[in-house]
Amino acid sequence: MSKNFQQQAEALREKIRHHEHLYYVLDAPQISDAEFDELVNRLKALENEHPEMVTPDSPTQRVGGRPAEGFQKVPHSRSMLSLDNAYSEAELRDWDRRVHELAGDGAGKVEYVCELKLDGLSLALWYRKRMLARGLTRGDGAIGEDVTTNVRTIRSVPLSIKKNGLPADFEVRGEVVMPIAAFQKMNDEREEQGLARFANPRNSAAGTIRTLEPNIVAQRPLMFFSYFAYTADGADLFDKHWDALEALAGAGFKVNPNRKLCKTVDQVWAVIQQWEEERDALPYEIDGIVIKVNATRLQRELGFTGKAPRWAIAYKYAARAGETVIEDILVQVGRTGKLTPVAALKPVHIGGTTVSRATLHNMDEIERLGVKIGDWVVVERGGDVIPKVVRVLDDKKHPRGTKKFHMPAKCPECGGHVVRVEGEADHRCVNAACPAKARLSVLHFASRGVMNIEGMGDALVEQFAATGLVKDIADIFDISEDKLLTLERMGKKSAQNLLEQIAKAKSAPLERVIFGLGIRMVGERTAQLLAEHFGSMDKLMAAGTEQLMEVEGVGPNVAAGVREFFDEPKNVKLVERLRKAGLTMKGEARKRGTKLADKTFVITGTLPSYSRDEAKRLIEDAGGKVSGSVSKKTDYVLAGSDPGSKLDKARELKVEVIDEAALKRMIGL
Ligand code: IVH
Repeated sequence: MSKNFQQQAEALREKIRHHEHLYYVLDAPQISDAEFDELVNRLKALENEHPEMVTPDSPTQRVGGRPAEGFQKVPHSRSMLSLDNAYSEAELRDWDRRVHELAGDGAGKVEYVCELKLDGLSLALWYRKRMLARGLTRGDGAIGEDVTTNVRTIRSVPLSIKKNGLPADFEVRGEVVMPIAAFQKMNDEREEQGLARFANPRNSAAGTIRTLEPNIVAQRPLMFFSYFAYTADGADLFDKHWDALEALAGAGFKVNPNRKLCKTVDQVWAVIQQWEEERDALPYEIDGIVIKVNATRLQRELGFTGKAPRWAIAYKYAARAGETVIEDILVQVGRTGKLTPVAALKPVHIGGTTVSRATLHNMDEIERLGVKIGDWVVVERGGDVIPKVVRVLDDKKHPRGTKKFHMPAKCPECGGHVVRVEGEADHRCVNAACPAKARLSVLHFASRGVMNIEGMGDALVEQFAATGLVKDIADIFDISEDKLLTLERMGKKSAQNLLEQIAKAKSAPLERVIFGLGIRMVGERTAQLLAEHFGSMDKLMAAGTEQLMEVEGVGPNVAAGVREFFDEPKNVKLVERLRKAGLTMKGEARKRGTKLADKTFVITGTLPSYSRDEAKRLIEDAGGKVSGSVSKKTDYVLAGSDPGSKLDKARELKVEVIDEAALKRMIGL
């Protein structure tokens, strides 16, 4: 029986690893997301039956560690150095000349490997007995920080590897990056939640990897590209750097495919020029090209100067920035009514495109920069879609003087009242019927990831608004073919396709409907939590602030956003119209038992068979509550191995401490 379980589970794990590799490492998925989820769910179900047999490298175990209480400092096997930079062709050629002189080998024999210089942060991963044992940040180069629990959540990092080309114990180094699209999505969500935006994908990758909450890391799609393989002691494993890269790829690591073996510095220069042209097409940011001597023996001979190797150099691309003048500051109204100041610039060429707009985010940002209309500024194109103003050039003031910008007191779209809630950076239009808001909420509702109504993009929504056909999200479900055909450039076929898409949207799950309402502070993830917790739109609408805050991850701001929304009778009417149209108003509510009713638990340490999330779910499903810190109100502290300070606190407050087995008995497992 248990043998059978093991075989079944291992077969599933292998299948899941294979598809993870195809998706996250090779970017070539062969099955749909739903099919993949189905495999994972099957494995989870099996493992739930035999929790004692879960292996640490099971794909279900990527999140499971406890939140770190600070990071442990660990010395590196060999220093993690940085690179010297070259900023021009001449500097590159100088470096090449020095390499040849020092090599003493005569020209023509030195080979180089060119790689993209990924704009992220470097990590060292230790594998022991073919299993991921440790993940370290660079730290100060000599001593790194142990971020293993976070690294485990990165899907392009294999948790275990097969026997092939690499010894059982080894070290991999590489760069962790956040793809630009994920960075933008994350920033939009942060903005919606009233949090500060990250400045660029690099900062958000760095911020994420140093988050103390592995659950949060797991939700952010980081990618890890490997570029070095060493022995466990930090010695070279291969004679050629190129072979190390091939071996890493063969063992299941993600190695950047845009690498090139070059025999001359001219070839290197061609690679540099090629990527300067093509870097915009990459889904992540690069800031240059790294050139490495291919032969590891020659690398050792060349050695290091201070902090950088002589055998490698980073050719850095110039920052994509330009100088121009702010001709005006306009105000844009967003879906949530947020007013965003946007600088209208005298058009300037930056890295191949003409830039005439740059975001200024909000009044705080305008004050921080000290920017006025008429100022000369530096504008940078980074990971964000919209370029940004990075600083004012004080010595280049506009000859006709400058003018201070004030946020308008009335909404530029509808003339509605503009308010700035205390403590918030943003100004908002409070008119619920503001046409800009309405237009954008319809667009949000129809967009991918929400209702997925294909074909309902910017242009059509604009047409809908102009003709009055769709003024709010409920109007979408009243559209008829006849009405659609009155629109310009709308043919019978497209009209029918659209209506099909709209009909399909009616069966979208509850969390999508909640997300689609465009409630302030409620992003995709929060919508999901709310749907899961309340199980129906009616219960959500009836929930008071306190009940809302019982939902994990919902704080006072989100609760206020939800209440604000449903306290507005117009919004309640809107929901009623959606209900009449046949949209999903109920989810699969989690059935809760009563065995642990009214009992509050705190979990600390690593449990033998459950992850913390799983334990939490078990407790909640039995009617109990899980809290993050021990207080007099705590009934039990569930402790595993390596418990944190919470255990001391429990003892101090004389709270009963139980282990996993005791919990299982209490629930009747
Ligand atoms: S090799 C001693 N290769 O750039 C060798 N680094 O400016 C150092 N980086 O700290 C690293 N892409 O974080 C190497 N293909 C690549 C890289 C890369 C990005 C980063 C890395 C390093 C920094 C040095």
